[in-house]
Amino acid sequence: MDKEAQYAQARARLRSLIEGETDDIALMATIVCELHHGLDHFDWTGFYRVVEPGLLKIGPYQGTHGCLSIPFERGVCGKCARERATQLVPDVSRLPFHIACSSSTRSEIVVPVLDRRGAVRAVLDVDSDTLDAFDATDAERLEEICGWLGQALRD
Ligand code: SME
Repeated sequence: MDKEAQYAQARARLRSLIEGETDDIALMATIVCELHHGLDHFDWTGFYRVVEPGLLKIGPYQGTHGCLSIPFERGVCGKCARERATQLVPDVSRLPFHIACSSSTRSEIVVPVLDRRGAVRAVLDVDSDTLDAFDATDAERLEEICGWLGQALRD
């Protein structure tokens, strides 16, 4: 299956799985699980949640362990939270502020999760062991899914 077909399948499964769910962690865990196992180029998939002003904390996620806490001023995840905009990193070795949680990671995408009020509540971080694994299709599909999550999050 190509990437588009994998996203289409994950999207359809997710829509039915998360329909009516109101628990933040159940939503995030299900999204991470379906994406991680449904997309061949995803080697680490997880959310970092805003737990206090300026601080991201890990979870839910799938893959080997990641850093537990990321302040907004650090890493690609912090930049995503600060700027509230998707970050595409084709080659992590060329980005000095990238935080390496796994030495096998070659590229990365981070997408913000904005709630109904427009506040950043989390970021979705996906790492790949392949160089240049993510493109505009990934950004578009993941932004849609993070949009569903953001609308569903409790105040
Ligand atoms: N690479 C991220 C850190 C999280 S781990 O990759 C799981 C960053 O630079 O923010």
